[in-house]
Amino acid sequence: MIFSSSTTSIFIPFFSSLLAMASSEQHILVTGGAGFIGTHCSLQLLQEGYKVSMIDNFHNSVMEAVDSVKELAGPKLAEKLQFHKADLRKIDELEKVFSQNKYDAVIHFGALKAVAESMQHPFRYFENNLIGTINLYQVMSKYNVKKVWSVFSSLLIDFVIWCSHHLPLFMDNLKKYPCVENYPYMPMNPYGRSKVYCEEMGKDIQKADPEWRIISLRYFNPVGAHKSSKLGEDPKGIPNNLMPYLHQVAVGRLPELNVYGHDYPTKDGSAVRDYIHVMDLADGHIAALKKLFTAQDIGFTAYNLGTGQGTSVLEMVAAFEKASGKKIPVKLSPRRPGDATAVYAATDKAQKELGWKPKYGIEEMCRDQWNWAKNNPMGYQKKA
Ligand code: UD1
Repeated sequence: MIFSSSTTSIFIPFFSSLLAMASSEQHILVTGGAGFIGTHCSLQLLQEGYKVSMIDNFHNSVMEAVDSVKELAGPKLAEKLQFHKADLRKIDELEKVFSQNKYDAVIHFGALKAVAESMQHPFRYFENNLIGTINLYQVMSKYNVKKVWSVFSSLLIDFVIWCSHHLPLFMDNLKKYPCVENYPYMPMNPYGRSKVYCEEMGKDIQKADPEWRIISLRYFNPVGAHKSSKLGEDPKGIPNNLMPYLHQVAVGRLPELNVYGHDYPTKDGSAVRDYIHVMDLADGHIAALKKLFTAQDIGFTAYNLGTGQGTSVLEMVAAFEKASGKKIPVKLSPRRPGDATAVYAATDKAQKELGWKPKYGIEEMCRDQWNWAKNNPMGYQKKA
């Protein structure tokens, strides 16, 4: 423990600066580290001076992504990065990772996230996301990482998807109702439910043992890529999400984009989301980590990481066409089951309590996504 319980808040600024200097000694375990958000976040952590251990089972990622993080970090920082191929569902593999190092915090990204798949294979989702998380909590507890801090990551949209179905559905009204952290959530599918259960478990575990400090970060729609174009989103198979689908159309891997829903009560009929640049998201994790290392009274707290700005699918297509100079063939298609009309974040809590604010807008998100796509049309695989 860096702080004793007698440390008073008056000393926090002083200790914060000490902690900032001492962060090179802090070792962060990142589950799902080879994935889209895991890689960007791990690189930022290294550049902020933390040691990083990634765990991944490569279900939806590849080793080349880890190599890219090392390359971007440079030889000196890369020495502070470890990679462990491990599956969170296998507690012995997890134990092995924890027995090799003493971790100061865990950032938990490792989960399945495809809604449609979760509806067909709920057991797969409960097994991966719930058993994986229970194992992680158990092993953290056993190795006393609970005394320090864990950051939980989940996608807000899956909890509060109902909010745009139940509120008046026009942009003018929606503007008044962004998703705040304390909306009661009602998951719409097994994937969303698995995320809710993970949060609820965290609350109960923290209540039973107040030594835990847990932050749940609720994302909106992470897009974009590292500006070097050496890190980006590279899903296996046909992408489910808008931006990787859009960029695969732009590089000719897919023939056209289906715009799911053109009769929503929004300004152009397509659904509205709060897109956030993955680098801003990574910064949000660093801000949350710093909060956990300095605030005594965090308990279990949730923060939205979004921009607060709604953008429609068609607006996103137009912004991507502008960034890429490519015409995107579009097919107006029926609504996708389970989709919400408009979802965007209330950002006040994260801005106030984490001192974090997104820097990038839609233009930069599309610029960096296109840069990644054009330089890596087949993702991390070198050959077509
Ligand atoms: C989706 C998932 C959410 C998951 C998140 C992970 C659903 C209902 N939601 O969120 O559970 O946590 O991804 O990032 O699947 N769109 C198209 N054409 C496409 C793809 C998407 O028009 O080919 C539209 C969608 O209908 C939606 C918007 O683009 O209106 C954003 O879609 P997407 O990127 O899949 O994100 P979410 O649906 O917000």
